[in-house]
Amino acid sequence: MRIKIAGTGSYAPEHVVTNEDLAGIVDTSDEWIKSRTGISQRRISDGIGTSGMAVKASERALANAGMKAEEIQLILLATSTPDCHFPSGACQVQGELGAVHAAAYDISAACSGFLFALNTAYSFIISGFYRNVLVIGADCLSKVVDWSDRSTCVLFGDGAGAAVVTGEAGGQGGDFGKPCVEQGSGCVPGASGILHMIMGADGWKGPVLSCESRTVGNFLTGTKPEMGYLSMDGQEVFKFAVKKMPEVIEQLLEESGMKLEQVKYLVLHQANYRISESIAKRLKISMERIPMNISRYGNTSAGSVPLLLDELNREGKLKEGDLLVLAGFGAGLTWGAALIRW
Ligand code: ACO
Repeated sequence: MRIKIAGTGSYAPEHVVTNEDLAGIVDTSDEWIKSRTGISQRRISDGIGTSGMAVKASERALANAGMKAEEIQLILLATSTPDCHFPSGACQVQGELGAVHAAAYDISAACSGFLFALNTAYSFIISGFYRNVLVIGADCLSKVVDWSDRSTCVLFGDGAGAAVVTGEAGGQGGDFGKPCVEQGSGCVPGASGILHMIMGADGWKGPVLSCESRTVGNFLTGTKPEMGYLSMDGQEVFKFAVKKMPEVIEQLLEESGMKLEQVKYLVLHQANYRISESIAKRLKISMERIPMNISRYGNTSAGSVPLLLDELNREGKLKEGDLLVLAGFGAGLTWGAALIRW
């Protein structure tokens, strides 16, 4: 069985906010933001919510896969900024798309969310449970960012990306219930599609990057609940990312019996240009193999990896047989990675 990404799509709101725009509301500058993060501009919601962006990205992914919404059996929406506590964003997407045969639910793993959802899709397909799964990463962080806090507000943008993941009978890579990578024996020779995946979490480090949804205790104290804002210890996140990402990528390749030289692109979460540069340095590879679009979108959280993957796909940069590593890290703290032969 071959479990592959059959189509990709993405969407970002049209409204562009430049570094100069932000310098008009907080004490910052284009020079500071660009030199510390690589970001020049970001897209900010002009009213569209997380599910709205997810629907647009999904429609494009379905068209790219040549598939109808009715053929999808499961919709997974990775997000930490759903429009409602309930119904889930995934159910809103299911309704809007008319994916009448699909079950739907959200997955919360912050910026690692798309990789967690991809892993979940892979597991459902390999087990024989579903054949066609729509995997979406979408976030509208502009609604939880404190626009008076210069240390965080300059980093984020809104956006979504989606992938149609499908299982094909036959082909190399084993049958139902048989993943491409058997414990300790590397990847099945000649296998293609999603070859291997890793997920991880360290809940003790949760406080370094968090966003309270609502303060509790209002019944007893009589206080009105207030929405929380995103808060972050930037340097701790930076240290975590530059250590964990190379480790995860090396583990992924080692378990698959593959070498870094065989990989065409590392499609990494777009958090900060300097983080990606440090990862390249630690892995001793050139930045040419780490495509970036952070300068145009900022950090779109769960949207970032599928948005970048879709851009590469549409630009014709992904050829059949290319080996890709997708990897991300985020609040939780969490991390995830996938090895894919396109
Ligand atoms: N403009 C101007 N000055 C600023 C700004 C700003 N936007 N933000 C902070 N500063 C100031 C600080 O107040 C501080 O001033 P001080 O020295 O007078 O106290 C100075 O710049 C240095 O601040 P640091 O926080 O030490 O700056 P640092 O070099 O660490 O860069 C940054 C901050 C960019 C956030 C960095 O730590 C980083 O990239 N961390 C990774 C975090 C990340 O990428 N998070 C993304 C979200 S997490 C995720 O996606 C999973």
